[in-house]
Amino acid sequence: RNNDPLCDSLRGSKDHECECPRPYEGHNCAEEYVPARFGNKDLDSHAVFYLDDDPRDTLVVSMFLRTRRLGGLLLILANSTSQYLRLWVEEGRVKVQVNNHETLFSQKAVNDGHFHLLTLTVRGITSTLFQSSQVMDSVSVKPVHAHSGDLVFIGGLPDQKSSAEFGGFFQGCLQDLRINNKKLQFYPLDTSVKSYRLEKLVNVERGCSSDDNCVSPCLNGGVCHSTWDDFTCTCPLNTTGRRCDKVKWCDLNPCPNGTICELRLEGFECNSILHYQSNGKISHSLADVLLSFCSGQPTATLLFAQRGSAHLAVFLRDSRLVMELKTGHGNGTVVLTVQNERAVSDGVWHTAKISMESKSSRWIMDVDGDQRERSISGGNLDFLKEEGTDIFLGGKNRESEGKFSGCLGSVEIGGLLLPFLQDTELNLPRPQKEQFVKVNSDDVQRPCSLCQLRPCHNNGSCTGRRSMLRLNSSLYLHIESPHKFVSFRNVPRCETDVDECVSEPCMNGGVCVNHVNSFQCVCDLNHSGVHCQVDVKINLTCWKNCNHIRFIPIHKQNSLTL
Ligand SMILES: *[C@@H]1O[C@H](CO)[C@@H](O)[C@H](O)[C@H]1NC(C)=O
Ligand SMILES: *[C@@H]1O[C@H](CO)[C@@H](O)[C@H](O)[C@H]1NC(C)=O
Ligand SMILES: *[C@@H]1O[C@H](CO)[C@@H](O)[C@H](O)[C@H]1NC(C)=O
Ligand SMILES: *[C@@H]1O[C@H](CO)[C@@H](O)[C@H](O)[C@H]1NC(C)=O
Ligand SMILES: *[C@@H]1O[C@H](CO)[C@@H](O)[C@H](O)[C@H]1NC(C)=O
Ligand SMILES: *[C@@H]1O[C@H](CO)[C@@H](O)[C@H](O)[C@H]1NC(C)=O
Ligand SMILES: *[C@@H]1O[C@H](CO)[C@@H](O)[C@H](O)[C@H]1NC(C)=O
Repeated sequence: RNNDPLCDSLRGSKDHECECPRPYEGHNCAEEYVPARFGNKDLDSHAVFYLDDDPRDTLVVSMFLRTRRLGGLLLILANSTSQYLRLWVEEGRVKVQVNNHETLFSQKAVNDGHFHLLTLTVRGITSTLFQSSQVMDSVSVKPVHAHSGDLVFIGGLPDQKSSAEFGGFFQGCLQDLRINNKKLQFYPLDTSVKSYRLEKLVNVERGCSSDDNCVSPCLNGGVCHSTWDDFTCTCPLNTTGRRCDKVKWCDLNPCPNGTICELRLEGFECNSILHYQSNGKISHSLADVLLSFCSGQPTATLLFAQRGSAHLAVFLRDSRLVMELKTGHGNGTVVLTVQNERAVSDGVWHTAKISMESKSSRWIMDVDGDQRERSISGGNLDFLKEEGTDIFLGGKNRESEGKFSGCLGSVEIGGLLLPFLQDTELNLPRPQKEQFVKVNSDDVQRPCSLCQLRPCHNNGSCTGRRSMLRLNSSLYLHIESPHKFVSFRNVPRCETDVDECVSEPCMNGGVCVNHVNSFQCVCDLNHSGVHCQVDVKINLTCWKNCNHIRFIPIHKQNSLTL
């Protein structure tokens, strides 16, 4: 760069001067403008120059810039009443404001740690911003008039607060700064070059060195490499992330069979997905889906089934419950969606019934008995009856919605339960002819054993049952009463709380459950009410014969279907 042959040949001649490529200078371009380091060791630094001439109507500001920061003040030209030109870095890109009004914004980031040549011109009423020789932005402006006596602030303003508006003090290096070809030198070269007067230099260092950035930034055995104002970590195989801070837990195969490993903040979770198929003997028409669930997730897949181009998906989107159904072929294809309007991702149990109205063939979504949303008509669930159609609970193959975290109560399609237990786990196999059969093994239940997680503090005893499908480790506990299981949301971890059950508020054999500042009575099937004080007349003929499905979770809504 500094041995231009033309220049070499003219060396020594008094008639010629070399035009040096920037940032070089001197008779044979052997000298380089000294870069200035701003903000080293996080110090607030700035410089001030004094304009001692009148640059007239054309203003050209240019400099080499090197930074890794997203923001920071570069330069301000000010007279006694106005900061009429401001340059700063915002979102890693250069931004300029002329006369407190018009702004120019570069399309290209400059915060990559390399030097960039930046040029701003204001000629008459046109202002243009360049990076190298490329135009980044151009706008019409009111002409600016720089005058002798105006000040140029570089890297920051003396007042810390004012700098904050521009993303704070600049951190990085500036080199070969010029206004209209007159230099603003932080560390002047010996060569006498036309320069503006340096008024002040605060915490600005000579050169463009960088600290050693490898003071233990890499975790988990990552190896650090220091680069200018930055570092990189070479991570061992089982970790990832900028600081090797993310362990690829799932690569360590921590989850039992039948569950799916998912990375979580600082850890992982084994999520269950249950897999079902029809036993091939379902003959009645399937015209509804009934499910109860409890989750705090705004998006998640609850149920998914697919066969060929047909699919059924029930999922949470923006905290709303949505059913999507696609059936048919060619011109007969029906795609329909039905969505409830109220948010249900609130950690409270909800029961949804999605059913086809026989007259209109429209699908109706009814959540908690009081919301009715209708779809267009058409579609059917017959493909679920076919042997080999996979039905999943808790996720699978809806890419936009993640896997489900929370609790699922009973799920029924056309009145047939998707059971949480396989026949082999029952004392008697199920005698029903029409069935959905669970395909994956019992392993899926194990991570649902709540008490393994020791959620209770203060010597509280945990009563976790695997009767309720629990798909992550949030604190949904289930209390067993003699005849049924009831679920509660967010049972406190026995944290400081008054035990309301001491006063025995439940009548008729109801089991009292203490909550924070409240209690709940779990009534037997013959009673209801806050204190189980109300007699309920229910036909219990089936109850005696139901031993073999005793693990099926029972809710208020479906306890009668037993
Ligand atoms: C300061 O600059 C602005 C904008 O160029 C100009 O309108 C104003 O008259 C100047 N003030 C002084 C005191 O020079
Ligand atoms: C990751 O691998 C490193 C080296 O192979 C090992 O020291 C470290 O314990 C592993 N971390 C985990 C979480 O397994
Ligand atoms: C998981 O399943 C695979 C294949 O079905 C089997 O080989 C393996 O032993 C199982 N692992 C455990 C921990 O049960
Ligand atoms: C489990 O799910 C609940 C509800 O979706 C969520 O709030 C919680 O963060 C999840 N827990 C973990 C450990 O991911
Ligand atoms: C589908 O509709 C188009 C246009 O309405 C018709 O030309 C075509 O024959 C139809 N195809 C079938 C398979 O019905
Ligand atoms: C828990 O029980 C142990 C043994 O009975 C006792 O020493 C301890 O103080 C108890 N802790 C609390 C928080 O009650
Ligand atoms: C409920 O009432 C019926 C009929 O009165 C009785 O047979 C049954 O034992 C009662 N169930 C419970 C759980 O008390």
